[in-house]
Amino acid sequence: MSVRTDKRHFPRPIPLWNEAVMALIHLTEVLIIKTNTSPVFYRLVPKPYESFRPWSAFADDLFLSTLRSGQTILEVGSGTGYLLRKVTGKATRCIGLELSKEMLKLAKKKNPQALYVRGDMTNLPFKPASVDCSWSMGSILYVDPERALREIHQALVDRGTFAVLVERYIFPAFFPWFRSTRLREVFAKTGFVITEEVFVGHLYVWLKLRKATRSSLAGVE
Ligand SMILES: C[S@@+](CC[C@H](N)C(=O)[O-])C[C@H]1O[C@@H](n2cnc3c(N)ncnc32)[C@H](O)[C@@H]1O
Repeated sequence: MSVRTDKRHFPRPIPLWNEAVMALIHLTEVLIIKTNTSPVFYRLVPKPYESFRPWSAFADDLFLSTLRSGQTILEVGSGTGYLLRKVTGKATRCIGLELSKEMLKLAKKKNPQALYVRGDMTNLPFKPASVDCSWSMGSILYVDPERALREIHQALVDRGTFAVLVERYIFPAFFPWFRSTRLREVFAKTGFVITEEVFVGHLYVWLKLRKATRSSLAGVE
């Protein structure tokens, strides 16, 4: 089996102000994760969060490019549903899975067409092989990524797609999971192969992964 890894930098330069906003968001995330305060934080922020949301608009197209018309899409940690709003109508089913009741409330209000489910991404309430494509935009760090990836793997159809925007390994002391080697180990261990990798500014990396089949993992595909 040959896996093509297309490693490139984000084609458009990202303005400095945008990098600065990303750095602030990055630091806030570190604080929330290290202090285990995500339920409190996301209970308080839904409205202001939406106004900051365009900070990562440049990564939107990367996510949108992974979805083919008519597919079922599941976003884990979907927040206020910003990304899913962009594909409602294109995907057959849009599902947002989110822990915070307050974020979900806003998501439902803004996009009643999508299906929003309250739940934990480390314990997904979906049937195996029921989802074609899954996204995580800045959410997988909030949990043990290995547990979430196992759940996502199970929910995806064979050769299904998982796309994720994660912090780059800029604070390895804070994010030991996301040291590049560790991250790759976790993807391999949970049955994913990286098919595309795009550096988004200095702080984030976007990855497209494919759910590997048993035979491809055994090297006989
Ligand atoms: C940085 S926000 C990203 C939201 C959305 N993906 C976006 O791009 O706007 C992280 C989200 O993950 C959610 N989250 C944290 N832990 C979670 C869990 N265990 N299961 C589901 N969602 C979770 C938070 O409530 C929050 O809405």
